[in-house]
Parts: sequence; C-alpha cells; structure tokens
Amino acid sequence: PQNRIFFWKVTRTTLAPDGVTRPVLLVNDKYPGPKIEVNRGDYITVVVENALDVPTSFHWHGLTMRGDPWYDGVPGMNQCPIPPGANFTYAFGTDNMVGTHWWHAHFENQYIDGLIGAMIIRDPPETNPFFKAYDEERNVILNDWYHQPTGPLLAQYLSPESHGREPVPNNGLINGKGTFNCSNVQPANLACVPGERAVFHFISNRRYRLRIINASAASPFMFSIDDHQLQVIEADGTDLNPVMVDRLPINAGQRYSVIVTANQDLKNYWMRAEMGTGCLPKTPSNLDPVILGEVRYQGAGKAEPTTTGRFVPQPAVKGQEALVNPSFAEACKDMDLYDLHPLQPVPILEPITNSLLIRISFKKNPADDIVRGYMNDITYSGGNAWNPTIVQNLNQSVEYEVNHHVMQILKPGAIVQIVFDNSQGDEHPFHLHGHVFQVVAQGVGFYEEGKTPLNAVNPLRRDTATVPRNGFTVVRFKADNPGVWALHCHIEWHVTIGLVMQFVELPDQLRAMGIPEHVGNLCKTGPPKGFKPH
Ligand code: C2O
Repeated sequence: PQNRIFFWKVTRTTLAPDGVTRPVLLVNDKYPGPKIEVNRGDYITVVVENALDVPTSFHWHGLTMRGDPWYDGVPGMNQCPIPPGANFTYAFGTDNMVGTHWWHAHFENQYIDGLIGAMIIRDPPETNPFFKAYDEERNVILNDWYHQPTGPLLAQYLSPESHGREPVPNNGLINGKGTFNCSNVQPANLACVPGERAVFHFISNRRYRLRIINASAASPFMFSIDDHQLQVIEADGTDLNPVMVDRLPINAGQRYSVIVTANQDLKNYWMRAEMGTGCLPKTPSNLDPVILGEVRYQGAGKAEPTTTGRFVPQPAVKGQEALVNPSFAEACKDMDLYDLHPLQPVPILEPITNSLLIRISFKKNPADDIVRGYMNDITYSGGNAWNPTIVQNLNQSVEYEVNHHVMQILKPGAIVQIVFDNSQGDEHPFHLHGHVFQVVAQGVGFYEEGKTPLNAVNPLRRDTATVPRNGFTVVRFKADNPGVWALHCHIEWHVTIGLVMQFVELPDQLRAMGIPEHVGNLCKTGPPKGFKPH
C-alpha cells in the first residue's frame, strides 16, 4: 500500500460546460474535478486549500472511513467547515474497499455548483475478478446541470411561493460536457455558444469497463449505448454476478460498472442518458430529456451518429429501480435490482437488534410557510456546524437537540434495519455514510414485516438505494464502525430542507478514539463574519 497525496485548490470562477457561461466552484480549475485513482489498500491524503470566500468541506462518497470518522466531511456531524482562506488536510485509509466511488463538497449545496469528481479504487490483477474480462476503462460521470448558481435557485426554492417545488435543471452533462440550444437560454442575457458532447473512442472488438457515476443534484438517469448491451459487474463498489441489460437506471449518488464490447459495425453510436425528473414539471422549451454522448469507433471518422436505439418496451417487474419513475415505466425491462447479486455472497444480516421505521413526508412549516422534509416528523437543521456531533460526543453528558435528529447505536455488532416508508411521495435515493448496507426489500405500497418477500439470498450491498415513489425500501447494516454517520436523501435540495438524520454509532468507542488535533482546531475559528446558514 502507498500513501497517495493530492493537492487541491478550491476557487470560484466561471465556466461554460454546455456552452452557457455561469459562475462555478472548481477544484484545480477542472470540471469535473481531479480524479482520485488509487489501488486497494492505499492511503489517501488530500491537502485542501480553500481559496473561496466561504467555508467548504469534502466527503468521500462510497468509503466507510473506518478508523477515520472525523474526515467524512459533514459539517455539524463529523467536522467543522474549512474556513475561507484556510488549508485542511484529509488523511484516511481505504479499508480494503475497491470500486467506483466519487467525492463531492458536503458544505451547503456546493457540489451542485461544481465540486464533484471520480474516486476510483482499483483492484490489482491478482484480486480483480474481472481483470481478464475487459481491456480498458473509462469513467462516465452523469449529472444534471443548472444555468444559474445555487444562490438564486435556493432563494426561489426556500420561499413560500415555490411550495417546495425543486429547481428544474436546464440540462445534463456527461463528463462535464454537453450541448445546449442557445435560443432557449434563460435568462436570455447569459453568454452562450454551442457546447461539445463527450466523445468515447472505441476500437473494434475491445472491451471497455465503463464506470458510471450519477453526480446529480436530483435527477436519475437511464443510461444506454445504441446497439450495445451493458454487462453490469459492479454496484457502488460491490462486484456482482454479471447481468446483461440494455438500459441501466442510475439514481443520484449511485455508481455502476458495465462492460461494453465494441462488437458492432464500424460506425459511430449515441450514448444516451435519459434524464428523469420524477414528477417535477418538465419545461420542454429548455430541457432536453436525453443527454447525448458519442461513441466513435476507430476508423469511422467523426460523423455524428445516426443510430436510433433498439429498445423493446417491456413491463416493469418487482424490484425494478426504474419502476418508480413514471416516465420510464414504458420501457423498463432493463436492469432489475433483484437480479443483482454480489459475487462474494454474504447471507442476509440477522437477527435484527435495532429496527427503525422512517416515514418520509413533506409539509409547510407554519412558522415561515416554507416546505420542509421530515423523517418521522423531525426536520434536520444542521444546528451549529462549528460544534459538530463528533465533538459533542467527546463530552460524556451530551444531550442532542431534537432538530439534529440523532439516533445512537450503542451495541457493538448490532444489526440495524431501516424501513423507509415513502407511501406518500416521489422517489428518493437514500445514502448512508460509513456503511455498505444490504438492500433486503424494495417495492410499492407498504412494507409488512413477515409478509413482504425479502431479497433474502445474498442481497445486493451498496451505499445509496432508491426508495420508490409510493413505496418502501428496507436496508440492513451491522454496527461495527464507530462514527457519526449521515443518512440522507441524495437529492441535494432535500438535504437543504431537512431530509437528513445522523447515527452516532458506538459512542463510547468513538469517544475513546479522540479526535486529531488539527481537526479539533478547525472548530476553534467559528463561523466567518456575517455567515448565514440556509
Ligand atoms: Cu454523496 Cu452525504 O453524500
């Protein structure tokens, strides 16, 4: 194992990923930000220079941060924000995890404004079960994109007039690229030039592992490449028994690896990422729901593809991730979640020691007439980011505030089951920090203990699971990782309105671990002058 060091400078600048110029936040002037690519067992050190005029922090989405919980990057929970003008060093192990992960800012909504990147942990040939199954790798980062920064979008969203209607993306990007019809730009005075599509170069008969990351603020995508099948081999870092699909639904925060063989005629093909905005109103004038990339076979020249796809609509089936999105429902044989099983089988975790039913709801807060999200009638408000839970836990007699929505897990090795009851609402991709959970049930309607069939044989393990529209998802994990771990909807707008809670896992062990001095020091500065949280 090696210690891999990365130096990051975070700045505010302008950029036109799809041809439309807007203010963005960038790491090292790149969008998406710099890749972190390391090998199994490596240590990662990221030296962050915050050259913004606001605080920031970073989260390593997909890593369990075992032994290093104070570097998980959630202000108010496990660190204090990095003040403007300051440096902070994240240094953590990778816990023998491998797979396709990503990093993003976790301070306010900064990731929507540009602070995202791929984080790949490679298996060396000796331990990579798919080493002989592909020849090359490519990263494919998908995300929705707004032509305005989050400041004005939030002002609108957090007003009584929005009635909780989330900002609607203007576009989507593949690897930070896209095109946009400049005659539809709003406001019309934004500088706009034709953008460029992402291009993927294939050589006939080579096999490509595509590592697909959905780094959206909100949108799920349906991913496909015309005339090519996708062999799914990894979900959120878990290697899978390979499954062939035509299209792959991927929700915000999730990742998949697929192997694509360049075995078709020598020409160019569309890569498609169909945006799903759930029940959000679509604005046909400025939202092109299919984001395109180009797959160019070597020798086929640069001509724009003319392919049309070949998808046969099939009825949705149980466990279907995409079933939850009515706009997909037509064409969704596609990937079925219940068909995904880890290559390394692990029996379903039992017996359950802690069972938690989480009812998801939204309602207007009578005090200010703004819609907030509730998990069991508690809406999270981060409280004081400069007095995070992990620091509070160092003090034995801590009493957490209700709106910090803390749940303690006291018993080492406890098997925790979470039932998400979303019988009232649109789909939500829920992400748990610090763990890879088992997805033991998912469906529409209500979950009934003992009645609802479980995905009981070698269930999928991942860190971000869709909770279907008007349905439920049930996950289980083992409490063996002391830390303060966020559980939240990965629709970033919903984080802002409180669809967040936190587990204080094994508080005594966590207390005994103390906290590194330079992490504690971050908490001494307090908020910058004039700082107002959302
Ligand atoms: Cu990828 Cu708490 O997030």
